[in-house]
Amino acid sequence: MLDPMAIDSKPQAGGDLNRLPLEVRRGLYETIFRRRDMREFRPDPVPDEVLARVLVAAHHAGSVGFTQPWDFIVVRDMERRHEVKRLFEEERLRNAAQFTGRRREKFLSLKLEGIVESALNLIVTCEPDRFGPGVLGKTAIEEVEIYSTCLAIENLWLAARVEGLGVGWVSILRNDVLRQIFGIPKTVIPIAYLCIGYVDSFPARPVLEKAGWAERLSPRKLLHFDSWDGGPADTERLARLVEDPEIWREIFPGDGPGEDDK
Ligand SMILES: Cc1cc2nc3c(=O)[nH]c(=O)nc-3n(C[C@H](O)[C@H](O)[C@H](O)COP(=O)(O)O)c2cc1C
Repeated sequence: MLDPMAIDSKPQAGGDLNRLPLEVRRGLYETIFRRRDMREFRPDPVPDEVLARVLVAAHHAGSVGFTQPWDFIVVRDMERRHEVKRLFEEERLRNAAQFTGRRREKFLSLKLEGIVESALNLIVTCEPDRFGPGVLGKTAIEEVEIYSTCLAIENLWLAARVEGLGVGWVSILRNDVLRQIFGIPKTVIPIAYLCIGYVDSFPARPVLEKAGWAERLSPRKLLHFDSWDGGPADTERLARLVEDPEIWREIFPGDGPGEDDK
C-alpha cells in the first residue's frame, strides 16, 4: 500500500529544512481557506474509496495520550435520517426561541442542515474511557478526549474539501435522542452529526456571513501579548502582520486562495 507518510518532502532552498514544498503549503492553506460548512447537496453517491480516504485522514488526528477516542457511524439508512430530521425540526424551534424580532425571522429563514438530501450522514463520537482510567496527558482537564475528537473532525472536514465533498455540521440536535436512534452506549458521547455529499459549488465566504448573521472577527483583535490584558499594541509587528495581505504573497503570488483573497 502507498504510505501517505512517505510523501517526498524534499526541503526547499531558503526555508527551514523541514518546511514542505511550496505546492504542499499552498494546497494546505488553500484547503483551509476554501473549507465551508455546507447545507445544500447533490444526491450523487460518494464512492467508498473517497470516503475511506477522508475517514483515514480523520483517524490521523492528534489525540491525548494517543487514545484515538473517536468512532465513526456511517448513516445511509433513510428511516433513521428522517427521525433525525424530525428531531432537528423540534430543536430548531427551541433554538429560534433564543432570538427575538428580526433576528428570529432571519434565523428561521436559514437552511441549517442537509440531513435527508446529502449522500450520507456521519456521526463522530468520543469514548473518553477507551483506555482509562489512566491517560497520559490527562489530569485536571476533563474534556481532553473531546478536544481530540474535534481535531479528527477538522481533519475530516479538510480532507472532504480536497475531495470536492461538502460537509455540514448539525448541532441543533439532542444527544440523548441520537443515542436512542443509533444505539450509542451511555459511555460514548456523540460529538458531531455531519451531512456529507457532493455540492454544486462551495461559496467563497461562510453562509452565515453572506446571510448577514455574523462577520469574521479581526484576527488582530484576538491577539494578546504575555497576558490576557496585553492587547495588540500598535508597536507589535505581529498584530499588524495578521491583517496584512502581503504575508500571503509568497504562497499565493497570483490572486489568492479564495475567501476575500487572503
Ligand atoms: C460545533 C459546530 C456546530 C455547528 N452546528 C451547525 C448547525 O447546527 N447548523 C449549521 O447550519 N451550521 C452549523 N455549524 C457550521 C457553522 O455555522 C460554520 O462553521 C460557520 O458559520 C463558519 O462557516 P464555515 O464553516 O463555512 O467557515 C457548526 C459548526 C461547528 C464547528
